[in-house]
Amino acid sequence: MTTVRRVLVGVSGGIASYKACSVVRRLKEAGADVDVVMTAAAAEFVRPVTFEALCGHSVTTSLWERGRALAHIDLGRKPNLIVVCPATANLLARAAQGIADDLLTAILLAREVPVLAAPAMNDNMFAQPVTSANIDTLRANGWTFVGPAVGSLAEGPSERPGRMVEPEEIVAEALRLLRAPHSSLSGKHVLVTAGPTREYLDPVRVITNPSSGRMGFALACAAYERGAQVTLVTGPTQLPTPYGVETVKVVTTCQLRDAIAERLTRADVILMAAAPSDYSAGEPAGDKLKREDGTITLRLEPTPDVLKSTAELRQETCIAVGFALETTGGVERARAKLESKQLDLIVLNSESDPKSGFETETNKVTLVTKSEAAELPLLSKQQVAENILDRVEKLL
Ligand code: CTP
Repeated sequence: MTTVRRVLVGVSGGIASYKACSVVRRLKEAGADVDVVMTAAAAEFVRPVTFEALCGHSVTTSLWERGRALAHIDLGRKPNLIVVCPATANLLARAAQGIADDLLTAILLAREVPVLAAPAMNDNMFAQPVTSANIDTLRANGWTFVGPAVGSLAEGPSERPGRMVEPEEIVAEALRLLRAPHSSLSGKHVLVTAGPTREYLDPVRVITNPSSGRMGFALACAAYERGAQVTLVTGPTQLPTPYGVETVKVVTTCQLRDAIAERLTRADVILMAAAPSDYSAGEPAGDKLKREDGTITLRLEPTPDVLKSTAELRQETCIAVGFALETTGGVERARAKLESKQLDLIVLNSESDPKSGFETETNKVTLVTKSEAAELPLLSKQQVAENILDRVEKLL
């Protein structure tokens, strides 16, 4: 997060209250300053001191605390966003009716800032028309909702919505509400590629590379937080599908090219972080190659240069960003790729740093344009993604 944002997390009382701890922690990790207000019922599930330790501020649970007479006005004005998680059926009903009989509902009535709510309740409670009507009322008052999801409830498995969505989804939605209004990527179509591709030599053997996909996934998540409509085309990786991002899975370089070609005309930005295999076997063997057949000679053919092939299909205004990993000639070679692939920016990975590149959590990169080469320090891939998107926003 580039600027510190204040978030008030309102915790109401349900079995999902404990998951609000994770939400607070993740918001803090994302750079937010977090206050917590709990209902009396929430304090029966998780003790306020837990939230105090996580958010670093005292946690208020009552309208009647000495010295905090106007807490409901102050706390409602101070944050940039209020996140209610879990939002129980009872809390939603009271808020929809404008009842302000405890600190959290009083804040929600007096608030001047957006509210994000993550409902959590028994599936029958959620299915009641009165609950839907309460949610509709709150939506009409500007509230945003995330979930509920279908899945296990405290009382057992369920096939109907009721379960609170996972903390990472709540945090992604909260960060999007905080960040999108300040980003020129808001509403833009961003196409990201990630991971390696695989080219089959026979039905069980492949040519590939150790790309983990982390850089592309970090870009997709960061672009979503900035309010973009994000499509992620990814080769095989072990990473979980990012929340809010349309994810398309491919295996070969040709599949990657086709998946991009289908979506390219809508894209305002393309971020090509994938490491497509540069060679394929042309005609892979139909049966498994056998060791007893002795030495084999492979004839490898180059795969299409996907990024280059997008140059004619991209909208004129589309910002194109490529990546380069060079063992020699760094900036000069990266700039040659920038020219030949008609890019606006190329991200040069440092090959010499062991903490950078394939299979690492961090990256050391230089952002290369026609006229500039800005070397960044060793950063997490999330931080590198933020730097790249800051550049893209300037170019848009
Ligand atoms: N790229 C691509 N299609 C390929 C190979 C690479 O679109 N078949 C993209 C990568 O996603 C990256 C950029 O092109 O954004 C540069 O990739 P890199 O592997 O550094 O360069 P190559 O063009 O493959 O050239 P070489 O491997 O010969 O350096």
